Amino acid sequence: MCGIVGYIGPRQAYPILIKGLHRLEYRGYDSAGCALISDTDNHLNIYKAKGKVSDLERSATGKDISGSVGIAHTRWATHGEPSEVNAHPHLGRSGYITLVHNGIIENYATLRAQLIKKGFSFKSETDTEVLVQLIEYTQQKLNCGLGNAVRNALRLVIGAYAIAAIDSRRPHELVCARKSSPLAIGVVDDNSEFFIGSDAAPIAEYTDRIIYLKDEEVAVITRDAPIKVYDLKGHEAEKEIQHVSLDLAMLDHEGFPHFMLKEIFDQPKVLTDCMRGRIVESPYGHQPAVALSAVTRHRRELLRAKRIVIVSCGTSWHAGLIGKQLIEHFCRIPVEVAYASEFRYSEPVIEHDDVVIAISQSGETADTLAALRTAKDHGALVYGIVNGVGSSIAREADTGTYIHVGPEIGVASTKAFTGQVTVLAMLALALGIAKGTVSQEEYETTLRELSAIPAKIERVLLQNDKIRLLAENFTYAHNFLYLGRGCNYPVALEGALKLKEISYIHAEGYPAAEMKHGPIALVDREMPVVFVATNHDALYQKTISNMQEIISRHGRIIAIVTEGDEQVKAMVHKTIEVPDTISALTPLLTVIPLQLLAYHIAVAKGLDVDQPRNLAKSVTVE
Ligand code: M6R
Repeated sequence: MCGIVGYIGPRQAYPILIKGLHRLEYRGYDSAGCALISDTDNHLNIYKAKGKVSDLERSATGKDISGSVGIAHTRWATHGEPSEVNAHPHLGRSGYITLVHNGIIENYATLRAQLIKKGFSFKSETDTEVLVQLIEYTQQKLNCGLGNAVRNALRLVIGAYAIAAIDSRRPHELVCARKSSPLAIGVVDDNSEFFIGSDAAPIAEYTDRIIYLKDEEVAVITRDAPIKVYDLKGHEAEKEIQHVSLDLAMLDHEGFPHFMLKEIFDQPKVLTDCMRGRIVESPYGHQPAVALSAVTRHRRELLRAKRIVIVSCGTSWHAGLIGKQLIEHFCRIPVEVAYASEFRYSEPVIEHDDVVIAISQSGETADTLAALRTAKDHGALVYGIVNGVGSSIAREADTGTYIHVGPEIGVASTKAFTGQVTVLAMLALALGIAKGTVSQEEYETTLRELSAIPAKIERVLLQNDKIRLLAENFTYAHNFLYLGRGCNYPVALEGALKLKEISYIHAEGYPAAEMKHGPIALVDREMPVVFVATNHDALYQKTISNMQEIISRHGRIIAIVTEGDEQVKAMVHKTIEVPDTISALTPLLTVIPLQLLAYHIAVAKGLDVDQPRNLAKSVTVE
């Protein structure tokens, strides 16, 4: 939610800031702005626009965009509607200090009232403007530099923030700070340039040397000098530089019309990457074996777990539901799957020998991070399953496994979901074989099947054109039902979420049999019903009975079936086939046509697939 970028160094800042904003636009895109201290007269130039970064570029055309220090922002509105006046950067009353912010200042109303009493006035409805005026007030009161003013002002703040601030009287300086919102600082070897970003994406092409601030740390960055980091009390902190490399090609469409489609098509390759070095040949022969370093390191704690709790949100929560089935099947350990946002406020019963798995693509979701901290406070071992390398959840978890699917830019999560399920399958198998709850034969068969999944996804992707044509028939719909049973029930939920978020069509995912207890009342000739009905287990015939119930009420069925399934084909409106695999791994194949279906319906409706309204990729506020 909101992306922030900053630069200080010898180059012109504007092109770096704009490129960085484009790279962070997935985090929010309802307005954008930038501030630069002009090369010519140290004047502070601020440009803002409602809309996307391209609108900001248009509004800055022909104006003074010179300057080698600057900050910029792309917004996802929390306080105050998307508008130019509410866009960041916000300006202090003296006209020198300006600030960009990601997060929520929870006590902003109290602070605002106190500042109004002291004669401050406000132009916007944002909590951020309160923060910049508070810094301004603190600076005047203490007669100090920007770093000290920021640090002392933040001591009065309750809430979450990642901020970057500049003062046009101090063009040699940029100050940033964070608490519960992400912030990365890129440092060029000789301290000649510094890059700020909400994540490494806007920094990666300039340097791989990154400093991550901890909560309540303030960094004072001065031209050509080593960076200084302080806690809010003013104690200097030692910071470690981490080497973070990103595959920059992954940050481009690579010839696809949208990131979402590219990321759907990335899946065979990135799932192979995800398994590389983790599914290996056993040292005793040619049998496959799974090797996860986190499991080796924490074997004792993982094996003694009597219970596992999975915490996550959105698509990652759906992956968690599949993880529950995998872990319970292979390890016979009871698993609960909690929405992180509920878990954190639920007085959870966590014993010190429970294991909590936090699943997150971004690694920055505020609720998942808070749930992780709650679990740690209760003494549980926290295992992170994360994509964002160096992200907050990756750093704060006790151990974990990266899904390694590369940056996911489309707001609708696709390859992260299959990456998460792949890691959960490897984790369940690694624990199951160590506990002796899975037979050697089932272990090896499942690993061979898992290794074959990328090639099978390739086969599903060959049906892209067919799914596109099918999708064009459904743009009329206002509602969709997605039904599945067993391993396909979480897939039904995920298919419905994909459709909702990018096509704005209301969709509900349901266990197919549960549909009789209410949602069937919605079914008429207009209602598309997507069944996920693969034929490898006992639930297949039951699902067919559920299909009959829909057919009797004239619903229009699209069925995801196993290749060669003639029975369902003869019954329903449309089928999409997926290759056969074992039950536990079916979601890795059945979700692919649902991703494509949602994508093509949204494209056929002319919608902005990668940046759907009201959403942001990384939900860093609660
Ligand atoms: O980064 P995370 O996996 O923690 O994000 C969780 C959800 O915000 C995310 O999955 C969201 O539901 C996606 N937009 C779904 O496509």
